[in-house]
Parts: sequence; C-alpha cells; structure tokens
Amino acid sequence: MKSIEINIQDALYFAEKEYAALEAPAVEAFRKLDTGSGEGSDFLGWLHLPSETPQSLVDSINKTAERLRENCEYVVCVGIGGSYLGAKAVIYGLSGLFDDFYGPKPKEPKILYAGQNIGEEYMAELQQLLEGKTFGIIVISKSGTTTEPAIAFRILKEQLEKQVGRDKAKDLIVAVTDAHKGALRTLATQEGYETYVIPDNVGGRFSVLTPVGLLPIACAGYNIEKLLDGARQMEQTALRPGPENPVEIYARMRNALYRSGKKIEILVNYNPKLHYFSEWWKQLYGESEGKDGKGIFPASVDNTTDLHSMGQWIQEGERTIFETVVSVKTPAITRRIPQDAANLDGINYLADKRIDEVNKMAELGTKLAHVDGGVPNIRIEIEKLDEHWLGQLIYFFEKSVGVSGYLLGVNPFNQPGVEAYKKNMFALLEKPGYEKETAEIKKKL
Ligand code: PA5
Repeated sequence: MKSIEINIQDALYFAEKEYAALEAPAVEAFRKLDTGSGEGSDFLGWLHLPSETPQSLVDSINKTAERLRENCEYVVCVGIGGSYLGAKAVIYGLSGLFDDFYGPKPKEPKILYAGQNIGEEYMAELQQLLEGKTFGIIVISKSGTTTEPAIAFRILKEQLEKQVGRDKAKDLIVAVTDAHKGALRTLATQEGYETYVIPDNVGGRFSVLTPVGLLPIACAGYNIEKLLDGARQMEQTALRPGPENPVEIYARMRNALYRSGKKIEILVNYNPKLHYFSEWWKQLYGESEGKDGKGIFPASVDNTTDLHSMGQWIQEGERTIFETVVSVKTPAITRRIPQDAANLDGINYLADKRIDEVNKMAELGTKLAHVDGGVPNIRIEIEKLDEHWLGQLIYFFEKSVGVSGYLLGVNPFNQPGVEAYKKNMFALLEKPGYEKETAEIKKKL
C-alpha cells in the first residue's frame, strides 16, 4: 500500500540552506531514537508499538469493547490531554459528522468524553443526558492522579452505581492506567474493575496506539488492527534516515523554517473530520517542543471555514508563520453541484463538478496566495480517511516530533511546564501537603 506523500517544494525556497545544513543532524537524531541515546530515552516505548503490539492484546481489547458495545447506549471516556486526544482524533475522523443527531443504535454506543475540563455545566449536562440511560465508563489516566478525570470519574461512577447498582457498575467500568502505581490503580484493584496497562515507557501524548486510544476506538466500532497496520507501514517507511524518508523531510523542513524566522506552524485541513486530529497534533508538538525558551508554536485552522476568520491574518499578518496542510485525496462519498436554470446565484460554472473539486481548487488557490504572501507551505497527502491512513499519519507525526525535538535541541519526551498550573491550583484549593505553597500564594492575591 502507498505511503503518505509529502511535498516541501513550496517551503524549500524559503530555507534551502538551512534544510541542507540539517541533513547530518537529522541522521544523528534518528540514531539517538534508534539507540535510545538521546534525552528522554526512557520514553521511547511508542517507537515500536505498531510492530510489537501482541495480537493477544488486540483481541482482548476487541473483546472488552464488544462487551461495552453490547451493554451500553453511551460509553464515556474519562481522561485529559494525551489520555483522550488521540482517541477523540481518530473517532471523530472516522465518524459521520452528524452521527450524534441520529441517537444511539443497538450495539453502537455513542462515545462521549469527560474529565477533559472542569466545566460544571459540562458535567451537569452530561449527567442529564446519561440519566436513565445505559452507559459504561473507560477511565484513563497514566499517573492515576490527575484532578480533572478524578473529579469526573467520581461523579460518573456514583451516577452509574445509583442507576444500575454497584455490582453491575463494575462490569461497565474499565480502567486504563499504570501497572502498579497511582490512585486509579488502587481504586481499580479494590473495586475489581477490568484494567489495561499504559506502558511505563510511553508518555501520554504518544499513547494513542496503546489501550489508551485503542480501547475507545474499538468501542466506537473502528478497526484497531487496520489502525496498527497503517502505523506499522509508516514505522517501516520511516525506519532509516534518508532523503526520501517523509519523517526526515518534515522534521528537517520545519526546523529549517524555524531557524529562518518562522516561529508558528499552522496545521491546516480542508476536511472538517480532521478538526480533532489537529487538536491531537497541537498537544503532541506543543508539549514535545515548547520548552527551554524554544519551540515552534503549533496552531491549526479548519479550511475553508477559517479562511473567513483567520485568513486575513495568515495572508497579511506578521510574517512568522508557515503552514502544513494535511490533504485527503478522495472523499468517501460523491456529491455534485446541480445545474440551475435560473442561475440567480451565478454558480452554474460549477455545475456537475464534485464539491471536492471546488475544495481542492480552494486549497490550491490558498496555497498560491499564501506562498506569494510569504507563508511557506508543506503539503502532506493521504489517500482517504480510514483507519489505515490515520494510523500512518499518527506514527508519521510521532516519529517526526522525536526527530524534530532533537534537531531543536530539547528533550521531546518530558513536559515539566505542565506542573506549574497544578502546583498553584493545589495551593489555592488547600490540598493537604501544600500548606507552604498555600501560604505563599495567598500573599500574592
Ligand atoms: O501527554 C501528557 O503527558 C499529558 O497530556 C497527560 O496525558 C495528561 O496530563 C493526563 O495525564 P494522566 O494520563 O496521567 O492523567
């Protein structure tokens, strides 16, 4: 099967010298990943997940998913950051955009999300929806101690137990967490929940191809073997550095642009189904590279929608941006624009064309305008939106950020900055053990 195609011709003009200069450092970055000799090498477990995930794990996940599908109208995935974005990206990318308006069908539960915010109304409205419904919970937390999912799980667990009784609730709750440590592991053991393990050496934002992503995706009815197949193909394609390796090309090009003054990267799609894929990508790149006072700021737009909101800034604002377009070659369904005898709207020149033909011309026209306006363009094309191609894309972006982080000179696998808000929040909430921090923060108020 074909691999994703990457085209950097419309970016190379801007930073050709820097791109050439990054050839040897890219080889070195691949070597660091390969040999585990770079910073953060304790967290390289994701590197061979596609080729090393045992069939027994896939079968077990499918079996658990089947049980939840048989017994639930809704399955709520409780998790935040890397513990939910990957699943949401894939499920949203593969689902019909209006599926939610049809309501659940037998054995096809709707997947909902909680614990990814602390919105009181969000939780109250979710609880209202689940009132009297059959639902299951997949609670996901690597550390097992994150506040947002802990609050959501406590509330939903209580609701589920009230609705079906404690014994039945146990069969409808699955926990995905560390093998040994954390409050969620303790709780799951005590309550007797079925559990899956997040490997120690896989960080949250790299965990979509572990049970963290695979279980919710299987619950939504999608084929996780095909997802892993696609990722495995990219694992092979991207194994060794070289001028044809799409991972090397992308990692080098974006670093060359960064060194040439392009500090913001916008991930662009022309297919609304990719909206949450961009959200996943932003976390992956933001948390991996934004540290030590460095890093490209990852942003995203959904086009053509955002051409009518952000288009002006992108075309003529401060010239510190470049864009990476993820383009889907062929939509799954054909729709043509009809002829209209009166032609009052003046669009008969488009009659009989596929909607996608217009979309592709919008993409091409935008690229030409942006390049003219000083916005370099990297283009990544996938054949279609299915499990295989999303699997390829996931692995492609994961490996690219490993290479890219090393080119940038940071540890791509830690996230020390995420702790700062937590420390303040705990101090403000007077969490036991934070007495000193509470006293200090109160002086600032
Ligand atoms: O990528 C990361 O490490 C983070 O985004 C975490 O996934 C997120 O903070 C949730 O952590 P946990 O899974 O421990 O609850």
